[in-house]
Amino acid sequence: MAVRPIIRMGHPVLRRRAAAVTADHAALLPDLVRDMVETMYTARGIGLAAPQVAESLRVIVFLDIACRETDEAAPLQVLINPEVVPVGADTALDWEGCLSIPGLRGEVARHARIRYSGIDGTGQHVEREATGLAARVVQHEVDHLDGILYPDRMTDMRRFGFVEELDDNEDMDQ
Ligand code: NI
Repeated sequence: MAVRPIIRMGHPVLRRRAAAVTADHAALLPDLVRDMVETMYTARGIGLAAPQVAESLRVIVFLDIACRETDEAAPLQVLINPEVVPVGADTALDWEGCLSIPGLRGEVARHARIRYSGIDGTGQHVEREATGLAARVVQHEVDHLDGILYPDRMTDMRRFGFVEELDDNEDMDQ
């Protein structure tokens, strides 16, 4: 296993549509997934997409933080060729950060409830529903596979700033 460098906004791979994983990638996939997990943990992220380590393939890893509500350690999820479908029309507005845009945070509207599917790390097809932060993380990571970064989704750029400034001035955040 190895921690790989995380590329940042401006790198062209982050703007590319990532390729679907096929049988041709079977040999490189286990190392890629292990490295992505180690890279995400080292960077203290809650999600990482393969393009962020400069591999233009449709692979994401994330922590299912919905489980934090039950005080369990967040289980690690691996999704290969993930698909996201919104459930209902509700959207939710909340703050997001990205390991490829370090130090910044912005407010983004996302589908409040989604159904997502894909192949997990053991080769099983999975299909789940997610709400809240878990739904947000999956949408953010799948966006990376289509070359989309969260500022592209923002509608009010006044709600974009450096984490340290936002934290210091939280009481002014009305
Ligand atoms: Ni990101």
